[in-house]
Amino acid sequence: MVMGLAVVDGKYFLSYEQIHATIRKLAQDIREDGFDPDVIVAIGTGGYIPARILKTFLKKPILTVGISYYGPDNKPAKTPRMIQWIDEVEKKLAGRKVLLVDEVDDSRVTLEYCLRELLRHGACEIAVAVLHNKNKEKKGKIPQEIRRYFAGQELEDRWICYPWDAEDIEEHQKTARSLKGPNGPNPGAAFTATV
Ligand code: G4P
Ligand code: MG
Repeated sequence: MVMGLAVVDGKYFLSYEQIHATIRKLAQDIREDGFDPDVIVAIGTGGYIPARILKTFLKKPILTVGISYYGPDNKPAKTPRMIQWIDEVEKKLAGRKVLLVDEVDDSRVTLEYCLRELLRHGACEIAVAVLHNKNKEKKGKIPQEIRRYFAGQELEDRWICYPWDAEDIEEHQKTARSLKGPNGPNPGAAFTATV
């Protein structure tokens, strides 16, 4: 079990504060590893907010691409779909060091798809940064050209409820801070982000 994270009805609930702290640590890991990207490429839509927070620490420009693995019925599609792929992105990648950012590494299929697209466009080095990696068997593979992979936090294979998906943010934040674990409710526990 990951300490300090609320699990309610089998799902993780993450607060904005926890996410911010995780990304600060992620930025530190990237710096300590000696990777200094020229540009951040955010995979929309889940990667947008993590990429923006990362920019606070890394101070690099963000380009965005839109790729979705879910169909209109909210079920996983057979293959990822390209929703938006800006020509500008391709032009700006040649010879650059790219940090590809998404919120979660789940099946890895979207990530693989996106990495292969980026590799075709002449980036000199690509690293991956995800806020969360789910520990599970992955359908997608990180291409061998990719030497650096950073995950802010390793999680069990459970659904993660992100604050940006919440319609009632106060309720969500309250749940995220309640730290109800498998050992029962623990509403008095202090908020501690495990990063
Ligand atoms: P991966 O390559 O990064 O592992 O992603 P994968 O294709 O497996 O993910 C399919 C979609 O499911 C992605 O959304 C991803 O964000 C979403 N997803 C997977 N696990 C979770 C989870 O635990 N919680 C939440 N909230 N989303 C999850 P997408 O199609 O890219 O859409 P978008 O939400 O990014 O717009
Ligand atoms: Mg996504």
